Formats: sequence, structure tokens, C-alpha cells
Amino acid sequence: MSVPGPIAPGAGRSLTAAGALVEVDGVSHHFRGQDRPALDSVSLRVTDGEIVAVVGESGCGKSTLGRICCGIIEPTHGTVHYRGKAVSSMSRREVRQFRRGVQMVHQDPFASLNPSLTLRTTLGYAASYHRIVKRRELNDFLMDLLRRVDLDASAEFLDRFPHQLSGGQRQRVAVARALSLNPKLIVADEAVSMLDVSMRVSVLDLLLGLQQDTGMAYIFISHDLGVVRYFASDGRIVVMFYGVIVEEGATEDVITRPGHPYTCSLLQSLPVPDPRRARYRRQNQKAAQFTPSEVSGPAAGTGCVFRPRCPLAQDQCTQAPPMTDLGGNHAAACWFPDKVAQLATSILGAGDVTVTPPQPLVER
Ligand SMILES: Nc1ncnc2c1ncn2[C@@H]1O[C@H](COP(=O)(O)OP(=O)(O)O)[C@@H](O)[C@H]1O
Ligand code: SF4
Ligand SMILES: [Mg+2]
Repeated sequence: MSVPGPIAPGAGRSLTAAGALVEVDGVSHHFRGQDRPALDSVSLRVTDGEIVAVVGESGCGKSTLGRICCGIIEPTHGTVHYRGKAVSSMSRREVRQFRRGVQMVHQDPFASLNPSLTLRTTLGYAASYHRIVKRRELNDFLMDLLRRVDLDASAEFLDRFPHQLSGGQRQRVAVARALSLNPKLIVADEAVSMLDVSMRVSVLDLLLGLQQDTGMAYIFISHDLGVVRYFASDGRIVVMFYGVIVEEGATEDVITRPGHPYTCSLLQSLPVPDPRRARYRRQNQKAAQFTPSEVSGPAAGTGCVFRPRCPLAQDQCTQAPPMTDLGGNHAAACWFPDKVAQLATSILGAGDVTVTPPQPLVER
């Protein structure tokens, strides 16, 4: 593999086209009482209409990054820009526009929908507050919202409470609430993780369909690389580990030519439908002995975050690796890209890797 050479840490931001919708630059966040930062100098840029999937195991900082992109929490270091302007220097009017333009859909719609409010109140509140719709047009507006998320567009449905809905319906209501503000970007944080497999694909397809209709962008957060591949097949994947971005690139590049051992370990745990390939993978498991996931990373600032688990670790890894450009807007933070390529082949076999997407079932 030819490697043009290291680029600066966090330089992933230079890998996308100009004209960012939301850009976080060198963002760190340290929660009070925690011994390490939840995010450590992370940079990410999302352009209009782009799908950026953020994947990584629980606790690696995905939700913190998503909440910072929405302005729900402020970073302890670094800047957040919306349409080229730093959020910290915005006027109140501009902050309102930012808050309106970037909406979040949470993992647990039960927790994010007020149980004592009907859907009519929940869905109508933000649109009325932001004066998106006039009072006399509110009913039509709400019916249209329900139709857009494939829910029953009826007065009876609008008068229901969250506990009267199925999990899939509740998540559609959460999506409708985000849509009610005509956002430019939705941060979907584990938006399908709590749904039955039977409903997962239909909600993913709904989100993708809405993106086609409106041209909005997504930051799609998930711990599941299979779901991420399905959702962001035309987009970009950002792989996080222990508060830092360790790899990013076009989805197919990251899946078929992983540039970081952690991405290899995620791919290794995905099901493979082809029995011959599954056998090959089993035989080669020994070639890639990842230390179990209970072992976390080193303290911040003491070398590569993946070192305690990495089968390729060497003395040099006590220094934090910069993001290395692997070509084609693909970069990874590892000192040894050639060895990672060999590791990937030993785990996945040569050529493309067939990853089973979530099973498409029809229930809505
Ligand atoms: N409100 C909070 N207070 C203290 N620590 C937090 C808080 N939220 C998250 N953390 C910690 O920050 C780290 C990253 O959390 P999070 O962003 O939720 O990760 P993920 O979404 O990838 O599971 C974890 O170690 C978590 O325990
Ligand atoms: S820099 Fe070293 S420890 Fe980190 S991923 Fe690469 S080989 Fe492993
Ligand atoms: Mg989370």
C-alpha cells in the first residue's frame, strides 16, 4: 500500500468538501468527576446533505460528540461552527437558528417524549414556539408530519399519549418532532438500537427516505457497524475509540480496506453469510488476537489509545499516532498502515467483505 505520509492529528476535517454545515474543531470534553476526557481533540465536518456515521463501542464518546454538535452541551476546549460561524460568538437570534437547524433523535423515545403530553402537544409545541406554523394551520401541519413518518394521520392518533404507542411508532414520533423544525442536520443517536429487529430497517429506511426528500444531513451514531454500513452506504464512516477518532473515510473504503486495527476488530465481529468466508475467518482468528474489550485504553496523552488491545502494538505506539492519509479521503491513526492492511486480509480475506445488513422485515 502506498502511504503518502502522516497528516496532522485531527486533520480529518480537511478530508471533506468546503462549505461545512456543522464543524467541530479540536473539541475536547471532560465531565466533572471523570478521570479522563470523554472526547479528546476531535474534529469533524459535516456538509449539507451528507450522511456521516459515527461508530464505536459504548463509552467511546459518540453521544458526547453528538450533543456537542447540537449545542446541548458545550465543549471544554475547541470550537463548534454552524454555517461558518462559531456558536460561542453567535447572537441570540443566531443561536436560535442553530438550535432549530440541528435536531437530535435519541435512543430512547420513551425517555425523550413527555409521557403526560399528547402527540398533538408534543409535535405542535416546537413548531409553534419557533413560529414555523400559524395556529389555524397547525392541524394540517401535524397531519402532514404524521404522513411523512408513515404514521396514521388522524385526529384520534394525535390525541394519544406516548404509552399508547409501540416502540417503532414512538421513534417515528420522535423523528416527526425533529422534522417539524425543518432541520438541516439530524443527529440520530442510536436511533434504532432499542427497536426490535423487525422495526429497525423500516425506521432506517424512513430516515433515508426523508433525507432524499429534504436534502438534510445526518450524523448517525451507532455501536453497530452492520447498521452503520446499511445506513451510510453512500456516506462516510467515522470510527471512534476511547474519545478520539481513529479512522474515517467513505463507507465502502472503511469496510473493505480498514486502516485501523480497531476497525478490523469491529469487522471481525460482524456476521458473514458466506460459509466459506466464515470458515476462512475462523481459521484466521488466531492471526488477530485482540485483547478483550474489558481492557480499555491508556490514560489520555500516553500514546495510542488502542495500544492495550492491539495485536500490532510496538514501542513506537507509546507515542500517539497522527491521522495518516490513506488516499481517497480515507485516513487512520496508526503508525503501521501496511501491517494493518495485512491484518485486515488475514481476518477478512482478500477483496470485498460481505456484511450482513439488518434483516429487512416489513412491520412498521
Ligand atoms: N453526564 C455525564 N457525566 C459524567 N460522565 C459522563 C456523562 N455522560 C457521559 N459520560 C462519560 O463520558 C464517556 C463517554 O460517554 P458517551 O459520550 O455517552 O459515550 P457513548 O455514547 O459512545 O457510549 C463515558 O466514559 C461516560 O461514562
Ligand atoms: S499505533 Fe500501534 S497500538 Fe495503535 S493501532 Fe497502530 S499498531 Fe496498534
Ligand atoms: Mg451513547
